[in-house]
Amino acid sequence: MILHKTQEVFGYISRSSAEQLSHLTGIPLARIYGVVTFYHFFKTTKPGKHKVSVCLGTACYLKGAQDLIDSCRKLLGIEPNGVTADGLFSVDPVRCVGCCGLAPLITVGTDTYGKLTKDMIPGIIAKYQNA
Ligand code: FES
Repeated sequence: MILHKTQEVFGYISRSSAEQLSHLTGIPLARIYGVVTFYHFFKTTKPGKHKVSVCLGTACYLKGAQDLIDSCRKLLGIEPNGVTADGLFSVDPVRCVGCCGLAPLITVGTDTYGKLTKDMIPGIIAKYQNA
């Protein structure tokens, strides 16, 4: 729960946060990192201001989600799980987000965009470039 809260507040688990948690709880740092690196949910790098999540669940994947993540990667010039140099965007693949009827879809922060084609990605990203 402490790790969940830390990630909720900071967006990721930094080395400094892990060290402080270890100090405060008495749990060895290696054990904390063991948990953080085992669960895909936890991030060890700071996400972009706008977190783009591309669903690669089965329904989305079958309807072309790979094209969406490729388009995001090409447009922003980053790899999945990467962050743009200006820190504005990060792109992460995620598992089913529970909106399969909208497949394929991405989320940007709390906004959801469904029934997408790769040609729609630039317009969506543009909405956040000055936000
Ligand atoms: S597979 Fe993408 S929302 Fe379910």
